[in-house]
Amino acid sequence: MIWKEKLALSLSKVIEKDMEFSKIEQLIEKPKNDDFGDLAFPCFTLAKKEKKSPHLIAKEISGKLNSSDYEKIEAVGGYINIFLKKKTVAKKIIHEIIKKKDKYGSQNKGKGARITIDMSSPNIAKPFSMGHLRSTVIGHSLSLIIEKFGFKPVKINYIGDWGTQFGKLITAYKLWGNEEKVKRQPIQELLTLYVQFHEKAETHPKLVEEGRQWFKKLEEGDKEALSLWKWFRDESLKEFFRIYKLLNVSFDSYAGEAFYNDKMDQVVEKLEETGLLVESDHAKVVPLPGEDLPPCLIKKSDGATLYATRDLAAAIYRKHQYDFKKSLYVVGNEQTLHFKQLKSVLKKMGYAWSDQMDHVPFGMILKDGKKMSTRKGKVILLEEVLTESIKLALRNIEEKNPNLLEKKETAKKVGVGAVIFHDLKNFRMNDIEFSLPDMLRFEGETGPYVQYTYARASSILKKGKIPLSEEAELSSLDWKCEWKLVKKLAEFPAAVQKSLELYDPSQIAKYAIDLAQAFNAYYGEVKILAETEGKQARLAVVYSVTIVLQESLRLLGIEAPEEM
Ligand code: ARG
Repeated sequence: MIWKEKLALSLSKVIEKDMEFSKIEQLIEKPKNDDFGDLAFPCFTLAKKEKKSPHLIAKEISGKLNSSDYEKIEAVGGYINIFLKKKTVAKKIIHEIIKKKDKYGSQNKGKGARITIDMSSPNIAKPFSMGHLRSTVIGHSLSLIIEKFGFKPVKINYIGDWGTQFGKLITAYKLWGNEEKVKRQPIQELLTLYVQFHEKAETHPKLVEEGRQWFKKLEEGDKEALSLWKWFRDESLKEFFRIYKLLNVSFDSYAGEAFYNDKMDQVVEKLEETGLLVESDHAKVVPLPGEDLPPCLIKKSDGATLYATRDLAAAIYRKHQYDFKKSLYVVGNEQTLHFKQLKSVLKKMGYAWSDQMDHVPFGMILKDGKKMSTRKGKVILLEEVLTESIKLALRNIEEKNPNLLEKKETAKKVGVGAVIFHDLKNFRMNDIEFSLPDMLRFEGETGPYVQYTYARASSILKKGKIPLSEEAELSSLDWKCEWKLVKKLAEFPAAVQKSLELYDPSQIAKYAIDLAQAFNAYYGEVKILAETEGKQARLAVVYSVTIVLQESLRLLGIEAPEEM
């Protein structure tokens, strides 16, 4: 907030004992209760230094501040309470929002520099899991936030389309598979085969060996293996695309694991040349003792390459291809060690840019306190969750607003919005216990609540029928009832800024809830459309609220219907 900085500056001029500007700024609080002003400066630290009572200090300093800068300055209980000039501040904020519209809070920090975001990255022939949903929605929101700050996001879907599981799958398909079934419900059928393979393999170890053989054939380019692989891949992608369409997410690249098949040899060669590669138990590893990390496995004893090898090749390729300023990996926190190893190995290889790589981890979705496992078939199918949510939204609309024109379209926006918001409202590192009723809740701190507030505000604007520009007449209000709301609106730029610094969309989600609540309180208190002097100013506030709510939702990847 600018006023905080301004106050800190004035304080730094009148405080005699030396105290750094940043320390002063840090001490300034925003009182919860408006009776104690808009900003407050506690004098306890200074009192200790000067061996005087905090109250006396507060009085002394407040006497020296320029009183004409503020509506009121008070010294109470060791605090200096500052009351801002409501009219001046409110006008400035409201005019700024109306002028900038969806650019309010934007900054050109990035100047077009690229940031790659490794996100979503589901595995072929396996269901799109809740974890992949998290990566998708967090990554998508981050891409929008990054863009708001003038960077160019490059969204990369690093599809899991290679690995030993394809050997197992081919084995299972050849033994028990049915072409028709796979075509009808590819992922479900492939998952069934995969689970069946693991069940049977427990008592038939020969199956494991057969799976290994098939994977070897695949790596060697065997025709049959390759064509089955390609088929599984295409069918799976079709399903994933349905989900992306529902979520409104697109990607700039789908270069998955297989894309790097011909790019790993160079990495291994370079590791060998630089003497980083060491034999251990017939496998090749890069030891990382200095970093206190376990060795990074590069090649298995049978010559097969590994997850880390591919990620090394991918990181190098991305640097060449995109010349990124930052390279983000939105991947679950269970892979933290992997990304630490990855960065360390790249650093040892002499790539200073490894410092630009950031793993953006997130917590797990638990079922009854436990992680869900694909191998045992214990997964929740995301598409079902989304469809269920949309159905529920449609039922709500039919009950509450049966005459709405675009019912289906709106239900999609609301149902999907509920699922996305449910994920993004918590700090990304928190684990989330899966609960369908919770995800499909439309009241309380939810996406539909924010969307509903936006629709309500939009409808008031329509009824108000006053064109609002950045010159809107705002002088006829005393801004007492609007004050809380105006202060919330002023906090938006700081909230987006924080979401960028922490790579954390929940900063915006929480902000949107607060703003929606502040607006609904205002709506309950004030007759916005009353034909009094302040009508235009009140509508200008409502207009600002719609702008900021819509932009908050947009940054989360959620649509805001005008009516619902
Ligand atoms: N496909 C992986 C999984 O589902 C995630 C890939 C993450 N990205 C990466 N570059 N390793 O666990």
